Amino acid sequence: MSLRLDPDSALNHLPQPLVIVTAGDFDKPSRRGGMTAAWVSRVSMSPPLIMVSIAPSRYTLELLRENGEFAVNIVGGRLEKAAYGVFGSKTGRGLDKIAESRVKARRGEKTRVPLLEDATVSLECRLVKTVEAGDHVLVIGEVVNALKFGDEQPIVFTS
Ligand SMILES: Cc1cc2nc3c(=O)[nH]c(=O)nc-3n(C[C@H](O)[C@H](O)[C@H](O)COP(=O)(O)O)c2cc1C
Repeated sequence: MSLRLDPDSALNHLPQPLVIVTAGDFDKPSRRGGMTAAWVSRVSMSPPLIMVSIAPSRYTLELLRENGEFAVNIVGGRLEKAAYGVFGSKTGRGLDKIAESRVKARRGEKTRVPLLEDATVSLECRLVKTVEAGDHVLVIGEVVNALKFGDEQPIVFTS
């Protein structure tokens, strides 16, 4: 048995991780933010590179380009509500999503970006390059530091 799918609905069968990408300066509530992302992948072992695909309209992309750094916060159960709520549904233009969502956050160790302490793991990244791809921008970063905050299972889903 086989069923022909259109490309868009076929791609919805890909398992996707759930992360919150944070950017900006933790100490400047008006210039920090973050967004939920599912189009995320490891892309190189040495150096350790990660990729996030971000729509050009996202405020988080603006912050990330401004400072050349970001963090990928891997979402487990404790952050799930904030990922689907504030971080995945509202823009951070004029809104401090960290205060709004009341998630616990701290400044990065090797970057200035906010790290979310309810993540399972936070990966601090330096921006390596951006590549336009269709209607999104591939953001490629090198992982320069990582902190583990918990033992929860990371969330993986299909659309
Ligand atoms: C489950 C989920 C996955 C998402 N994945 C992505 C993604 O991979 N890339 C993207 O550009 N937006 C994605 N979004 C949408 C952004 O998180 C959303 O537009 C956010 O409000 C942008 O915030 P910002 O303008 O403050 O950056 C996703 C949203 C949800 C709820």
